[in-house]
Order: sequence, then structure tokens, then C-alpha cells
Amino acid sequence: MDEATPILTAERLTLTRPDDWHLHLRDGEALKAVLPDTVKRFARAIVMPNLKPPVTTVTQAAAYRQRILAAVPPGPTFTPLMTLYLTDDLPADEIERAIDSGIIHAVKLYPAGATTNSAAGVTDLKKCSATLARMERLGLPLLVHGEVTDPAVDIFDREAVFIERVLTPLLKDFPALKVVLEHVTTQDGVEFVKACGANVAATITAHHLLLNRNAIFAGGIRPHHYCLPVLKRETHRQALLTAATSGNPKFFLGTDSAPHARRTKEAACGCAGCYTAHAGIELYAEAFEQAGALDRLEGFASHFGADFYALPRNTEQITLVRAAWRVPDELPYLADDVLVPLRAGATVGWKLEDMQ
Ligand code: NCD
Ligand code: ZN
Repeated sequence: MDEATPILTAERLTLTRPDDWHLHLRDGEALKAVLPDTVKRFARAIVMPNLKPPVTTVTQAAAYRQRILAAVPPGPTFTPLMTLYLTDDLPADEIERAIDSGIIHAVKLYPAGATTNSAAGVTDLKKCSATLARMERLGLPLLVHGEVTDPAVDIFDREAVFIERVLTPLLKDFPALKVVLEHVTTQDGVEFVKACGANVAATITAHHLLLNRNAIFAGGIRPHHYCLPVLKRETHRQALLTAATSGNPKFFLGTDSAPHARRTKEAACGCAGCYTAHAGIELYAEAFEQAGALDRLEGFASHFGADFYALPRNTEQITLVRAAWRVPDELPYLADDVLVPLRAGATVGWKLEDMQ
């Protein structure tokens, strides 16, 4: 047996400790509430910069990193991998400072208005040419929220149109730029990433692997299944599942766990984002098991992302056991409001074995 093959029995799955390559940790009391869920499971996480105000400088990212480290509970070590929020006027020299800092691992592109806290995002990528050229030269990845904001484009087509209107021209101008199509949700996205060179990869969320768009309307409107990019039809879910379980290193784990207080989700104009960190690896185990590919989970969750970011793979391990557990109806979040996690009040089929 290959040394790297995960140890898998019918009841237990031991794998290299995974990393989360796309995570929203928020700040303040929200950060303190959600961080333990991630730390229990993941050794590192790419931390999204869409705070209010956004994290646009190395100085801000360093301060945010300190706040995260101060909130890490005792237990396994956790390394936050920081990102900068791309704006129309992020100076190219900030890229130099980012590399020198050793704590910044990527820059995030939010098209202005595309999602939660994206108002300060990019209005026209042409304005960022000098900065993108510097990133290409220095090998700092661009993480893209791959949706156009043109209101004339159907919400279910926004990823495909983004690829055509933004991503394809971007890679023509910067062919060696490292790009991650974050939370890819469509067959179009999967095909695009597969056709690109090794400098282009994608993260996939557990909820896009497990749910299709019917979940948003199951018996009534389900605000806790509303995220961006929005869930897609079943054929797309199948394409994501095939990509994630294919062993292709271009596809790796990014939960996009995005907490919002209950009252901001259950509202006339509810926020986008699913909270999944409480079962951040267990939900993927379910999806991979559905596809009969549990033996492929380790590459996707623990190897390919580190390889793409040119970071060492983790050496510790975690064990999942096949045991159903009930997800609480709600989790503590803010002093005056709670968080409703994915699968609230229902069961998850894999459980993280308690640390020794
Ligand atoms: C994210 C959030 O809440 O910050 N929401 C979401 O639906 N995924 C932002 C994002 O990643 O789009
Ligand atoms: Zn996100």
C-alpha cells in the first residue's frame, strides 16, 4: 500500500490534518464564537478579508492576524493565512510589502457589489493592471469571487458569464498569474479550470457538493441555504462532485463557512452565507462517501491546497468515525443573537474523533 493512502476502514477514516482554503472568520465576538470550530479540524485557513472596513493593507492584515491568534483556544496549533482585499487603488507596492511580511498568502477579488461586504470591491479590473502584474511576477495568488454583478445577467448564469467576460481576458493579459476560482459552483467553472494551466485552481464548498438549488425552496423559503454563489441545479452539483473526487489537484477544499446572525438571515432581505465550520470536514466526508470516493478525501482536503500555495503539507492527522450526531438548532454567536448552522436540528453521518 502506498504510504500516502489514507487509513480507511468501514468505521474510521484517518487522514492528514486538513486545511480550509476559504474561510470567513469575522471579527470581535463573532470571531471568538466561530474560531474554535475551525481550529478543532483545520491546521490552517485562508482568511477572507471582507471585514467592515475591508482588510486592504498589510498593516491591517497583521493586526487582524493578531486578533485571530489571540482568540485561538488552547489545543492544536492553528495558523491563519491572511489575504488582502483588492480595490481599484491597491498599490502595486503593497504586493511587495505583502510578500515581505510572510503572512499574506493571496489577494481577493470581489467584483463591487457581488456579495457580503463587497461594496469596496473592484469596479474595473483594468484599474488594477499594475498590481496584478506585480502579483504575477511575485507569484502571489489572486482569489476570485467569480460572479458578474450586471443585473441583466440571470443569477444562475453569473459564474459562466464571469468566466467569459472577466477571467478569460484576465488570464490572457496575465497568463502566469496564479488564480483560484473560489467556491466554484458550475460545470462551466469546472471545465474552465481543467482547461487552464497548473496556475489556475478552484476551491469547492461542502454545501455545493451536498445541495442543489431545490434546497433553497424545500417546502418554503430556506434562508439558511442561501449563499453566494447561489446553489445551482443538480447537473452542476454532480460536476462538482466528480471534480472534487477525481484526484485532480486543481480542486481543493474551501468551506466558505460564512456566519451571519440568525436575524440577519431570517429577514425580508437576508444575508448570503452558510455556516459550516461546525462540521467543516465531516460534511465533505459525507459528500465523498456518497460518491464512493472516501479514499480521495485526503488529497482534496489535506494535500492539494498546500501544494498550490507552495506550503508544506501538514504532518499531524485527524480521525473521523462513522457515527451520526445531531447538529444543534443554534450555536452561540453574538451577545444578542445566535447562529444557525447548516443541518441545524438534523444529523451528520461522520464525527471528528476527540483529540487524544
Ligand atoms: C460570504 C460572506 O458572508 O462573507 N457569503 C457567502 O454567501 N459566501 C461572502 C462570499 O464569499 O461570497
Ligand atoms: Zn467566501
